[in-house]
Amino acid sequence: MSTYPIVRNRRLRGSQAMRNLVRETALTVNDLIYPLFVTHGEKIREEISSMPGVYHLSIDELEAELREVAELGIQAVLLFGVPDRKDEAGSSAYDANGIVQQATRRIKELHPDLLVVADTCLCQFTSHGHCGVVHYNEQTKRGDVDNDASLELLAQTAVSQAQAGADIIAPSNMMDGFVAAIRSALDAAGFSHVPVMSYAVKYASAFYGPFREAAHSTPQFGDRRTYQMDAANAREALREAEADIAEGADFLMIKPALAYMDIIRMLRDRYQLPIVAYNVSAEYSMIKAAAMQGWLDEKAIVLESLTGLKRAGADIIITYFAKDIARWLR
Ligand code: PBG
Repeated sequence: MSTYPIVRNRRLRGSQAMRNLVRETALTVNDLIYPLFVTHGEKIREEISSMPGVYHLSIDELEAELREVAELGIQAVLLFGVPDRKDEAGSSAYDANGIVQQATRRIKELHPDLLVVADTCLCQFTSHGHCGVVHYNEQTKRGDVDNDASLELLAQTAVSQAQAGADIIAPSNMMDGFVAAIRSALDAAGFSHVPVMSYAVKYASAFYGPFREAAHSTPQFGDRRTYQMDAANAREALREAEADIAEGADFLMIKPALAYMDIIRMLRDRYQLPIVAYNVSAEYSMIKAAAMQGWLDEKAIVLESLTGLKRAGADIIITYFAKDIARWLR
């Protein structure tokens, strides 16, 4: 018997079949959610310059896109709306004929089995670009996001998305009490069967840069640091997750993903809810940019990174690479 552990480990690495046999984690197409940016108008299929391969799509263009998504075996899409009008209160977010509501109805018509996850936030819909209502604060002498006034509008948004047919409500606004407010509004409106995928742990992050260009949601003043988390904090993530679980969250999301794998592991070890990692826009753009220069092997880098997210404890991954991965895994 060999006394060298290294030799014992290497015995299990001798061939691809052996490596497959002892694999601890697998990335599969069932784990993936593909984000879509929908916009008003017709025949619009406009590439987002900082996210090559990702498009703004008008509703008529969804048909071809969804055929591809469904054919690849992807189970869910995450919808972001790019509206044609914005105002102080973000009213196009909770309009029954808002862009997300229209797109949701169309998707459920075309593919009743494809899950529609609706992003519930106001930042794409407000003229100031914040995730809630902004009120002037006499004490601080500046515009502040009014937490409780925002909750009402977010709850209204969630209900109108569920009415349009959304299968999962994904609030990304990080207001205090947002899961409870949305849960009780959904229940009261007859949608107690619709789960809430909470962006429980969302860091204030430079990794959202390309998304803000894509969604036209850059704050017009200030930043999101009063409601999103500080990258230096981990214990605070537990407080956020605990609050959301107590308020009735069905999924816990961590965002961004790759710079926060310790947080994914921590939440996986502590809680029993499905854990979702959001592989955000800059995580996509960085790999794309380097791949376009021929500096790295895109497929290998993406599969290794996302397998890493699964190993860290993510059950589900939201990623702009979803279609590529589905193809590569075939
Ligand atoms: C809106 C929202 C953001 C993202 C998803 N929902 C941006 C933000 O908080 O500024 C970022 C997603 C990405 O970067 O891919 N609240």
